[in-house]
Amino acid sequence: MKKIKKVVFPVAGLGTRFLPTTKASPKEMLPIVDKPLIQYAAEEAVASGIKELIFIIGRTKNVIMDHFDSAPELENELIAKNKKNLLKLVQKIVPKNIDCFFVRQNKPSGLGHAIHCAKNIVNNEPFAVILADDLIMSQKPCLKQLMDIHYEKESTVLALEKIKKSESNKYGIVEYHSKNKDLYRIKSIVEKPSPNTAKSNLAVVGRYIFTPEIFTKIEKVKPGNGKEIQITDAIADLMKNQSIHGHIFEGKRFDCGSKLGYLQATIEYALEHDELSRKFRNYLKKLKI
Ligand code: UTP
Repeated sequence: MKKIKKVVFPVAGLGTRFLPTTKASPKEMLPIVDKPLIQYAAEEAVASGIKELIFIIGRTKNVIMDHFDSAPELENELIAKNKKNLLKLVQKIVPKNIDCFFVRQNKPSGLGHAIHCAKNIVNNEPFAVILADDLIMSQKPCLKQLMDIHYEKESTVLALEKIKKSESNKYGIVEYHSKNKDLYRIKSIVEKPSPNTAKSNLAVVGRYIFTPEIFTKIEKVKPGNGKEIQITDAIADLMKNQSIHGHIFEGKRFDCGSKLGYLQATIEYALEHDELSRKFRNYLKKLKI
């Protein structure tokens, strides 16, 4: 069986929920304490055994390319000032055995379209997708949890989370044939159904393992609302030929594309942060809220 070596990060969306910040800056560069969201995503992929990082960027996203490139002037300055820890911090953003690729999505035409931009780099192999604005805190990296299921089932695998049914209109919602503990065999998927038509409270969140057949399915999708090519429609079509599994991952997800989720992540990551944890906890205790 083919090992999964490649991950796609679609980071070309407009991030309208975070305007005006995202007018000229990528939402994926928003920091959670001291690291941008996209770096957390890259670290999760590398910790899961991924070797190639493929970024689908857009017009205002070149700074993501700079973040994952070397910075000789900065590094020379840190060497000259003997700031070894900071130097290490900067140099380990991309570990030595990892390759980065950048592809421009010429306009934000939907998540399905963004993923399809990676077709020629991915080739005919299973691959992973991470949406960096879904930040996941877990013992075992969420992506690795899905990869292990893929190795067992050889299928497409979706990360699932149980949501409040009233929020079904924000997610792709699945219906299932059967389940075994946290693993579901998926029967159908619908993009953003209203709470009264949603078939379950199981929502697809920002981690996927795809078989390469997804690309031909994306090619057949007709643009939906707002002329976007939805990945959900391609997954629904793929289901006609292949079995698809969903897994309720172990861990806690923060929707950092929303202001509330972003603030919650900032607080929880600060409480776990080596340097800040104690002082920040004391500060929070003093707040009269
Ligand atoms: P979102 O639905 O979060 O959209 O996209 P968005 O544009 O980023 O943010 P809002 O809703 O306007 O605030 C889900 C993921 O798909 C990527 C986004 O960057 C995000 O990671 N995406 C979306 C693309 O790469 N290209 C697109 O055309 C659309």
